Amino acid sequence: MATKSEQPYERVLAEYYDHVPLYANRADVGFYVDAAREAKGKILELGCGTGRILIPTAVAGSNAVGLDFSEAMLAKCREKLKRQPAELRQRVRLVQGNMADFELDEKFRLVTIPFRGFQHLLRVEEQLSCLRAAQRHLESGGRLVFDMFHVLPEAMHDPEWTREREDTPEMQLPDGRRFRRTHRVTAFHRAEQYNEVEFAIYVTHPDGRTERLTDTFPFRYFFRYEVEHLLARTGFRLASLYGNFDRSAFANDSPEMIFVAEKASERKAG
Ligand SMILES: C[S@@+](CC[C@H](N)C(=O)[O-])C[C@H]1O[C@@H](n2cnc3c(N)ncnc32)[C@H](O)[C@@H]1O
Repeated sequence: MATKSEQPYERVLAEYYDHVPLYANRADVGFYVDAAREAKGKILELGCGTGRILIPTAVAGSNAVGLDFSEAMLAKCREKLKRQPAELRQRVRLVQGNMADFELDEKFRLVTIPFRGFQHLLRVEEQLSCLRAAQRHLESGGRLVFDMFHVLPEAMHDPEWTREREDTPEMQLPDGRRFRRTHRVTAFHRAEQYNEVEFAIYVTHPDGRTERLTDTFPFRYFFRYEVEHLLARTGFRLASLYGNFDRSAFANDSPEMIFVAEKASERKAG
């Protein structure tokens, strides 16, 4: 995992995150809100970021804890929570922490890692440690739900992916700045299953000054059976594997891999 000073969301991305239509319109919000409703209990979101999913989950009635490594992302989430009714704010708690190593002294019906947060954990030890922490924080029979992208083979090696790809058309910010965003792979690390990914933000200030700001970070990719093995090693039972947020079955052309895993019931002592 990157150290705090290297955290991508700490430097540039947090500032623009909620203005990227690709994120704002992502179809995962309804999926995670439904999972929270079905859980009928407290929710823990790991890598909650700006609350894009955490806040709608609380609006739908859940009590929720959001944990994130990035102070900048949590600050955005706090700002948004201030605009919510006091009753809702009392049901949401934010914690700064590492999803691979945390102890909250509380149990949940549902633990989620929405929008690829698990892919920030590069090493197997961190991945196992995260899943074990999720396991410890779940009530018996509770669920862990998380998603990652379904790997496109060409994205692991094709030089075409090193070209900047426009992912956000020019947007106007409330303070008059305008920005657009691109992303590209800057290095392939196939033996260790990660790409170095650069996000570039092109900002135009109201006085006409322009800037190119970048955040680059390593992003791990996983294969289906690898994740199934990680879950088995940490005491989870795979309940469902979806290929998209409409709950369609995982298939060759699925864009996502969405895992729903259950904590096995704990044996009663004696
Ligand atoms: C793509 S964002 C997703 C945010 C939010 N869940 C959403 O769906 O909009 C990934 C988040 O994971 C957080 N993150 C990355 N590594 C982390 C770690 N080791 N522990 C906790 N949070 C982490 C980042 O700071 C970022 O806010």
